[in-house]
Amino acid sequence: MSDEAGGALEGRVAIVTGGSKGLGLAMAKGFARAGADVVIASRKLEACEQAAAEIRALGRRALPVACHVGDWGQCDALIARVMGELGRIDVLVNNAGIAPVAPRLLDVSETLFDKTIGVNLKGPLRLAAKAAEHMRPGSTIVNVSSVASVRPNPVTAVYAAAKAGLNVLTSVMAQEFAPKGIRVNCIVCGTFWTDSFRAGVPSEEAVAAATRGNVLRRIAQPEEIVGTALYLATEASSYTTGQLIVVDGGVLP
Ligand SMILES: NC(=O)c1ccc[n+]([C@@H]2O[C@H](COP(=O)([O-])OP(=O)(O)OC[C@H]3O[C@@H](n4cnc5c(N)ncnc54)[C@H](OP(=O)(O)O)[C@@H]3O)[C@@H](O)[C@H]2O)c1
Repeated sequence: MSDEAGGALEGRVAIVTGGSKGLGLAMAKGFARAGADVVIASRKLEACEQAAAEIRALGRRALPVACHVGDWGQCDALIARVMGELGRIDVLVNNAGIAPVAPRLLDVSETLFDKTIGVNLKGPLRLAAKAAEHMRPGSTIVNVSSVASVRPNPVTAVYAAAKAGLNVLTSVMAQEFAPKGIRVNCIVCGTFWTDSFRAGVPSEEAVAAATRGNVLRRIAQPEEIVGTALYLATEASSYTTGQLIVVDGGVLP
């Protein structure tokens, strides 16, 4: 049952925001296979429940929770619910994200700006702050960022800025939480085949460009984030904190 990472998360509780699909669901299942009980948090409860059923099929407990991470009241309620029902938090993955497109800065509406910052930056800060209050030594936080944060594209300017902020918060969290024995790292993702990628890159030409744009000459499958997530979530990375780990197939300059 705990066939990945040698049961390294046996008896642990992991929260994965945006765990209902895409990279979040892949990580949630990877953590379950490593022995963790998993909290699936995203806006749509039904999608969380479906993902939770997949976790239970792996023999672990699963708690589906509807949570809009851009709303701090809902973030606080999520942490309180997890402590009330599962009694501990060992891993927090700040994975929920949106990457809306605007051709020019003038096309960025106030709503787009606030939503993008809310989901990608504001939520992770609050969830980390509240989760850390309950985490024991040895716990970990994994933030999910994007190569856009270091190689920004004008059409996703606000997303890139939010993820750059998340990179900075990773260092801040690592410094603040180190005395509690909590490590914090960040996965900087290249292109993965998920709904958000399909939604943001409509043309065949753009898919071809993403494929050509890295040394491995392909777009990753969602499961290819799991090894890095397990490494950062477990004692395997016991001397690593505050770091940005790039998983992008070797994006070309
Ligand atoms: N795929 C890529 O190529 C790529 C590249 C770089 C970085 N990333 C990053 O990787 C992470 C996951 O991306 P993905 O491609 O797996 O996306 P995805 O397939 O579109 O899934 C996004 C997840 O986030 C949830 N979500 C969206 N808004 C939310 C909110 N306000 N509160 C809580 N949950 C919310 C969604 O569920 P609900 O709709 O139910 O809320 C869903 O579970 C994101 O942070 C993204 O920026 C992805």
